Amino acid sequence: MCGIVGYIGGQQAAPILLDGLSKLEYRGYDSAGIAVYNGEKIQMVKSTGKLKALEELTQGGAVLPGFSGIGHTRWATHGSPTDVNAHPHFNKDCSITVVHNGIIENYLKLRKKLEGKGYQFVSETDTEVLAHLLDYYYNGNPLEAIVKVLYRVEGSYALGILFKDFPEEIYAVRKDSPLIVGQGKEGNFIASDVPAILKYTRDVYFIENQEIVKLTRDSLNFYNIDEEEVQKESTRIEWDMSAAEKAGYEFFMLKEIYEQPKAVADTLYPRLKDDGIVIEELGMTEEEIRNIGKIYIVACGSAYHTGVTAKYVFEGLARIPVEVDLASEFRYRDPIFQPNTLVIVVSQSGETADTLAALREAKSRGVRTLGIVNVVGSSIAREADNVMYTWAGPEIAVATTKAYSTQLIAEYLLAIYFAKVRNEIDSRQFEDMLHDLKKLPDQIEFLLGGKEKLQHFANRYLATEHVFFIGRGIDYAISMEGSLKLKEISYIHSEAYAAGELKHGTISLIEENTLVVALVTQKDLYKKMLSNIQEVRTRGAFVMAVATAGNTEVEKSADYVVYLPETNPYFANSLAVIPLQIFGYYVSLGKGLDVDKPRNLAKSVTVE
Ligand code: M6R
Repeated sequence: MCGIVGYIGGQQAAPILLDGLSKLEYRGYDSAGIAVYNGEKIQMVKSTGKLKALEELTQGGAVLPGFSGIGHTRWATHGSPTDVNAHPHFNKDCSITVVHNGIIENYLKLRKKLEGKGYQFVSETDTEVLAHLLDYYYNGNPLEAIVKVLYRVEGSYALGILFKDFPEEIYAVRKDSPLIVGQGKEGNFIASDVPAILKYTRDVYFIENQEIVKLTRDSLNFYNIDEEEVQKESTRIEWDMSAAEKAGYEFFMLKEIYEQPKAVADTLYPRLKDDGIVIEELGMTEEEIRNIGKIYIVACGSAYHTGVTAKYVFEGLARIPVEVDLASEFRYRDPIFQPNTLVIVVSQSGETADTLAALREAKSRGVRTLGIVNVVGSSIAREADNVMYTWAGPEIAVATTKAYSTQLIAEYLLAIYFAKVRNEIDSRQFEDMLHDLKKLPDQIEFLLGGKEKLQHFANRYLATEHVFFIGRGIDYAISMEGSLKLKEISYIHSEAYAAGELKHGTISLIEENTLVVALVTQKDLYKKMLSNIQEVRTRGAFVMAVATAGNTEVEKSADYVVYLPETNPYFANSLAVIPLQIFGYYVSLGKGLDVDKPRNLAKSVTVE
């Protein structure tokens, strides 16, 4: 979603803003703009399309001289992607300018009110309301005007604001949309995410909801909504810029696919200690774990798919009933919480609006919450009662791969640990599972070696229109992720189906040469799956099967088989997803698409 960068300091602002915005491109956008104070007035340039257009228009920033400015990449919500709708937005005399990430839900009402007072709007955006509202309340004191605006607006926002009267200051504030502040040696920064400013500083402040920041070139002041100054601690970012760069790969997605053995090992090994599992950050006593009556796993997209897998693992091993919910449904469905319920929210970004809202809903109902989160210091990480980090490192490609794989690991660890504490598994089973978990990084590495064959296979399906992914049990959960991976980056329609459900309607869509990807990793369901493969094959489908090594009987039913190394059936997802990610990647690449930034999508979905 939208990206924000702001800078005030001793260097020219525009090139820093453009550079920062380029590091936020992964978030998804369709227009961009920057505004810089040039010693006399605020100058602004905006453009639809890629950042390159803005770079050309501003000659790399040279046409916008000045030492303070704000920039924005816009992912259109209110109003189509046009130059006029692009941010920043001005008030009427161009003395206040604003960039915004989020949605002002009551903007129509506010717009009407402002129009009634003579304000004229030039764009269709909700954001422009903020510029005029600031103008309306501004009386020579920026902080006071911002606070008054905050009391009037409903919705989510991260804002960067520049006042012509105060060119030595930048203001920023957030509510439910991400925003960080960076403290540099030669200036200070605001940004939607760390990569935008990592080149300049590693010292960042995470802003709380409705906290306001005043930045000058050498000072930072934080205020609450009562305009009282608050003290904050900075956090040192430990990861390197190289982790957020392509390192010779054509696309981030392929780089991130290749980083999975390390990401999985980094998430797993620190929690394996003295032949046991130690999850210090869980903050639950053994007594509390024994008392858990029910688990909800709540997430969106791929993170939700890991939850669907985890349900089988928690229920199968720890014998705890689990409900898996899409966060966008959970937050409005008034779930019935029993005593001793644990709500686990899963999120790579830690900023997904629906997941965050679901977490807050659970907390407000007095339920214990645990976040499984990748981005350190993100909203979900800070607001959940406890947080278990996945150590995938920065994930840039919109299509998740390594974050997904590490979420699975966190969920396996929790399930096995709970099972052990609750005496649902014996020491032998526990040891065997740890043994299998430890082998996963090498097994993933081995599967990555099969990429050429999959590329060859993918190239046959560049023109295909429909693909079906089928499986039973955990294999159905894997199918969901395989299907999403293909469709989101290749724009080929695909569906995941519980294999046994196919004949209740969907099988009528199977025709000559329809590609059906069948997941066959679960021993207990193997024979059933072979029958389901036969059903689609007799109707003309071409079947690619993903099966465990040794189960060669599948070759009689399927047309093309990818074999996986043997592992505990509960962990099969971690292996089976690898060829599906590679397949999706190569179909997208073969079609000449922008693999990392698929159309209409954003990396971090910070609006409902
Ligand atoms: O940051 P989150 O894990 O909360 O994001 C949730 C989904 O938006 C995300 O998993 C999405 O489905 C992926 N980009 C798909 O590859």
